[in-house]
Amino acid sequence: MTSRMQDGSAGDVDYAAVGGGYGRHRRPDPRIGALIHEALGAARTVLNVGAGAGSYEDGPWEVTPVEPSAAMRAQRPAHLAPAVDAVAERLPFPDASFDAAMTTFSVHQWPDPAAGLRELRRVTRGPVAVLTCDPDRVRDFWLHRYCPDVLDTEARRYPALGDLAAALGGTVTTAPVPIPLDCTDGFNEAYYGRPERLLDPAARQACSAWSFVDPPAVDRFTAALRRDLADGTWDARHGHLRHQPYLEGSLVLLRALPD
Ligand SMILES: C[S@@+](CC[C@H](N)C(=O)[O-])C[C@H]1O[C@@H](n2cnc3c(N)ncnc32)[C@H](O)[C@@H]1O
Repeated sequence: MTSRMQDGSAGDVDYAAVGGGYGRHRRPDPRIGALIHEALGAARTVLNVGAGAGSYEDGPWEVTPVEPSAAMRAQRPAHLAPAVDAVAERLPFPDASFDAAMTTFSVHQWPDPAAGLRELRRVTRGPVAVLTCDPDRVRDFWLHRYCPDVLDTEARRYPALGDLAAALGGTVTTAPVPIPLDCTDGFNEAYYGRPERLLDPAARQACSAWSFVDPPAVDRFTAALRRDLADGTWDARHGHLRHQPYLEGSLVLLRALPD
């Protein structure tokens, strides 16, 4: 059974402790949103699991959000539907209740991702879209040189794409999601060309992997990045990224259709 923390958090992160500024730093990016919307097809009813503050819910559908953390539910804008307090692994809906389902930046936190995805499949008639990261690619980012712990943590947390596809069943397609230079959704790779942003503790707190890194390692990271930005070392190595319109990093979108 999925255990719950005091505010209801049901994954590997206590959002009562780190979720405070999530909605400010993790605003849905319209270009990423367009790919998710395309994956959902002509759905009229959409389930959003691990819905958090409601990113990527705006659209021409009736959305049913599911979110276990009270701290995250409290950040949902008033125009969105209130979230159902439940967990992915045990969805309180009958079979085939929704036209489509999605889960974004969430599956890596679930205690049992395979069980959760089987539940999404069970309650959904059409496409299930999963926005996640490929654990085999998360370390291919300059941040790994500055703070290996944070990306090693991510590589451990993200389930293998093959395991996600197997749990979803049916026909699964996986496509890379290009990350725009001015991405409004502040996950780590979103700052590939804006390294200064990662010196902001509030921006880091909105990426849960940082909560697993020891404070001394975070201090070493900020000192090293600050130094390399000041003396031009970062720009000599990676300065081209400041002008690169998109990064093809570890972000991927899985789309599963039932057989
Ligand atoms: C990084 S946030 C992503 C929120 C939102 N989907 C987004 O894209 O901004 C991860 C969310 O997954 C939720 N979560 C963690 N474990 C869960 C579980 N077992 N079932 C459902 N949601 C879960 C967390 O409470 C949190 O709101």
